[in-house]
Amino acid sequence: MRIKVGVIFGGVSVEHEVSVISALQAFHSLDEKRYEGVPIYISKNGDWYTGADLVKIDEYKDLNKLLNKCEHVTLITDENKRFLLNRVKPKLFDKKPVAEIDVAFPVIHGTNGEDGSLQGVLELAGVPYVGCDVLSSAVGMDKVIMKNVLRDSGVPIVGYIWFYKYEWNTSEAELTSKIETEIGYPVIVKPANLGSSVGISKAKNRSELDEAVVLAMSFANKIIVEKVVQELTEINCSVLGDQETAEASICEEVLGQDEILSYADKYQSNSKGSKGMSGTNRKIPAEISDEQTNEVKSLALKTFRVLGCSGVSRIDFLLDKKDGKVYVNEINTIPGSLSFYLWEPTGKSFTQLTTDLVQLAIKRQRERSEITFSYDSNLFSLHSGSKGSKLGVKRS
Ligand SMILES: Nc1ncnc2c1ncn2[C@@H]1O[C@H](COP(=O)(O)OP(=O)(O)O)[C@@H](O)[C@H]1O
Ligand SMILES: [Mg+2]
Repeated sequence: MRIKVGVIFGGVSVEHEVSVISALQAFHSLDEKRYEGVPIYISKNGDWYTGADLVKIDEYKDLNKLLNKCEHVTLITDENKRFLLNRVKPKLFDKKPVAEIDVAFPVIHGTNGEDGSLQGVLELAGVPYVGCDVLSSAVGMDKVIMKNVLRDSGVPIVGYIWFYKYEWNTSEAELTSKIETEIGYPVIVKPANLGSSVGISKAKNRSELDEAVVLAMSFANKIIVEKVVQELTEINCSVLGDQETAEASICEEVLGQDEILSYADKYQSNSKGSKGMSGTNRKIPAEISDEQTNEVKSLALKTFRVLGCSGVSRIDFLLDKKDGKVYVNEINTIPGSLSFYLWEPTGKSFTQLTTDLVQLAIKRQRERSEITFSYDSNLFSLHSGSKGSKLGVKRS
């Protein structure tokens, strides 16, 4: 029997549409002999849907019409530990689930999907799922926490300062002077937990800094200000596997058209077809020295290890052409198009990539089943009749 793979996509995220593209690419590349794909679309309101038409990209032009043809569902685990998609509003005599899945395959970028929240839902439901777990997803999503952890492990990153919105509102002058003395212009200002360059801008002086922070604060409560790498080459490298098997891909050089590689550069260039990240202008392999390639690959693996990742990630680097230094900029734990284009050139097809990912999810579930999470014995029954003090419950 084929394994039923629930590909979960869309989501309450500014990267909703990009997720639809990545997910449909992944869905259509599943090995049909081994896997039966079940599309699970999360709307921008957070409602879950399933239905055959969800895998046709053209249907998304009229979303209401599409969703009318689908079932509004919820994920439940039944008494036989099967993972079912049941109607939110069951019909009369509704006995059968709308669909069933064996493995979940989240392909959501950004908030509520790549940040550990969806992984938490799947974890509690007990479903094996593809990719990073709750902790690595959450750490990877928050640029501040991620950089704190990487810095602590000796991974090179550019200098940064971070603060909350309320701190800027109450202590703008102190923070401005801290930024000017500790980092110095030009700086780049980012919301701490978004993606696709949303809310990011550069500042060369105090008034631009103020504008950039106000923009970033309209997207997030936590802001990070970084030193700009002025003579920049952007290099990306994907890592696939788990902690035991992780390997690094070929490197790509990303060519932006605007100053900051923008949402438009990433997703709207060559926008005739729905290419997702594969539509970005890029050089594969990156034209950097062998030494730099090796450094990027080994830092990519180290980042994957330190953050505790699993599945396929893409680690993005900033390379300073002035002095040849390499910095980790960020990790994407569910990268655009699942970075398939970084694996294809060395002989791993998109189908093999999705197969590897599903197998990794099953392997992790098997390993977890060997870990003790709770004791079967009921401590209360062992101590029945006692005054409770033996259980550490002091009675006043
Ligand atoms: N420190 C930096 N110096 C120069 N350019 C940067 C720096 N940080 C980010 N950028 C530019 O901004 C883009 C978006 O920043 P990034 O941190 O990758 O955010 P996102 O999570 O939105 O992709 C990068 O792809 C790069 O072009
Ligand atoms: Mg980025």
